[in-house]
Amino acid sequence: MMDREELITILGAPLGDLATDRELFAEAVEVRNRTVGDKVYLRGLIELSNRCRKNCLYCGIRSGNKGVDRYELTDEQVLAATEYAWRSGYGSVVIQAGERTDDAFTDRIELLVRQIKSLSNNELGITLSLGEQEREVYRRWFRAGAHRYLLRIEASSPKLYAKIHPADHSQKKRLDCLGFLKEEGYQVGTGVMIGLPYQTVGNLADDLLFFKTLDIDMCGMGPYIEYPGTPLSGVRSIFTRDERLQLALRMIALLRLLMPDINIASTTALHALHPRGRELGIAAGANVMMPNLTPAAVRGNYKLYDNKPLQDMDLRGFNVALENAWGDSHHFASRLSKARASTERRK
Ligand code: 5AD
Ligand code: SF4
Repeated sequence: MMDREELITILGAPLGDLATDRELFAEAVEVRNRTVGDKVYLRGLIELSNRCRKNCLYCGIRSGNKGVDRYELTDEQVLAATEYAWRSGYGSVVIQAGERTDDAFTDRIELLVRQIKSLSNNELGITLSLGEQEREVYRRWFRAGAHRYLLRIEASSPKLYAKIHPADHSQKKRLDCLGFLKEEGYQVGTGVMIGLPYQTVGNLADDLLFFKTLDIDMCGMGPYIEYPGTPLSGVRSIFTRDERLQLALRMIALLRLLMPDINIASTTALHALHPRGRELGIAAGANVMMPNLTPAAVRGNYKLYDNKPLQDMDLRGFNVALENAWGDSHHFASRLSKARASTERRK
């Protein structure tokens, strides 16, 4: 198992030429193919709404950004997109939105989850990515049929977290939420941004070790990309955009070596920095992609960062797994069987 120093050595090696990382990427791909297989799993991404009560200093849809047209998909739009996903053979959909905690919102999600389950004969897997909620809310959504949840920690270092968020955004709360999600039975995904202002390769090494300690089932991480006008956009990162892309690929590869059987997403932010960014992510050890199924009319409004690609993804050339399998995290399956074995032992 790699220790912090080894991780720092690899992450801190000179940046500039992707070819330097060829061996690292090849090893990660070999490990992936041996553990979770060589298929790319698809999740249809539906961006339900860009309304958000949070005000993260890096994000384009932060509540303080008054220049955004706020939208909310109707139930009909959400159900039409999920039905499309189901009929096209997707195993699962991801429902993502800015954070809202009011009853109207949490009730609506619960109902939507139930409707998606029934329209797909219980076949479509549902991943939620809806921010920090009360444990009770996570429980209700789980009972309604959601089984995975994505909640990025953004930065595992408490100091760095504090620098990229307003004072009333609490990292502890987020950690508590990750704990609740796990206890409620979800497969849990988290992740970080790579190349943030103030961030060092030491921070990134610690992020990887944090994922390992938390024993996550899924990970989505991508390069940080300035959004003009946000408070953080005026602060320089020590990494250029090209370097962030390369670092993100190193992070994917190292995580695959550290946690061979988890699901790792090749994220849209990679694509924003490179026309073949998502392919590069897969070639560095990722195994999940999330084509955007949000109706085109509002897609331009869900802009977390600059230059976010809007076009549909070209899937030619990918070894896509489209067999109505949920593409569940192998890690989660082994986590469950370990838990069962230990309850057996305790009996
Ligand atoms: N650059 C890259 N990623 C961003 N996110 C938000 N703003 C940015 C940005 N400027 C990411 C966060 C969030 C996810 C939905 O999008 O990690 O969790
Ligand atoms: Fe809201 Fe997420 Fe953007 Fe923060 S990163 S402002 S929680 S959408």
